[in-house]
Amino acid sequence: MINYAHRGASYDFPENTMLAFREAIIANADAIELDVHKTLDNKLVVIHDEDVQRTFKGKGLVADMTLEQIQQLKCRSKAFEDNLECRAPELEQVMLLVKNHGLKLNIELKTDVIQYDGIEADVVNLVQKHDMVESVIISSFNGNSIKKVKELNSNIKTGFLYGMPQKDIVQKAKDLNADALHPSIMGGVNAEYMAAAKEAGLEVNVFFVNDIHHMRKLVSLGVDGVFTDYPELFNEILAE
Ligand code: G3P
Ligand code: CA
Repeated sequence: MINYAHRGASYDFPENTMLAFREAIIANADAIELDVHKTLDNKLVVIHDEDVQRTFKGKGLVADMTLEQIQQLKCRSKAFEDNLECRAPELEQVMLLVKNHGLKLNIELKTDVIQYDGIEADVVNLVQKHDMVESVIISSFNGNSIKKVKELNSNIKTGFLYGMPQKDIVQKAKDLNADALHPSIMGGVNAEYMAAAKEAGLEVNVFFVNDIHHMRKLVSLGVDGVFTDYPELFNEILAE
């Protein structure tokens, strides 16, 4: 079962920063999950929201700012605001860290609100450039992005994200050529769901799993992976 550090070890360190990613490695996570947007100067930047304001001391859309402008912004965390690693990293920087430590990587394309031109090809090219096809899974809430990734390189695994239970979700994922379902903990994962996913050859990786009750339940259901802000805690549950 894959222990994905969600936005890095984001329970203890500011999400989607090198601080959180390094802590995920220390916590023995199997994989890191991160979110990618595209800047005004066409760089791939790791940040969750379309707007920088929630996580950084600035205002504006990622799409309207250059990478340099975004990386000048201090993070909002009082404890880390002066730490230069508490900035928005470029995707390639995190990929190299992950590769050097032998972890897996889930790259979420944040194309559900803004359709960044060519983001799928840019990410696929980077994955190929660094010879990470085997260790990366690309996910999105946007089915079109999943389809495009598969058209660009069918060997790269993809995961289809969704929140609440959806009718025919297994068929929808198959129609997109996805390899995995990425439901939320509210997404209806139970024994019947697991059987249907397995029958269809789909992996199941579940997100926002931060409490021990859900961790234990998902372990007993035999999901393939769990996204948690707290990879250290999930490793303790796995060891029980
Ligand atoms: O990929 C799982 C999870 O990260 C999806 O939700 O909002 O944290 O990107 P969010
Ligand atoms: Ca995400």
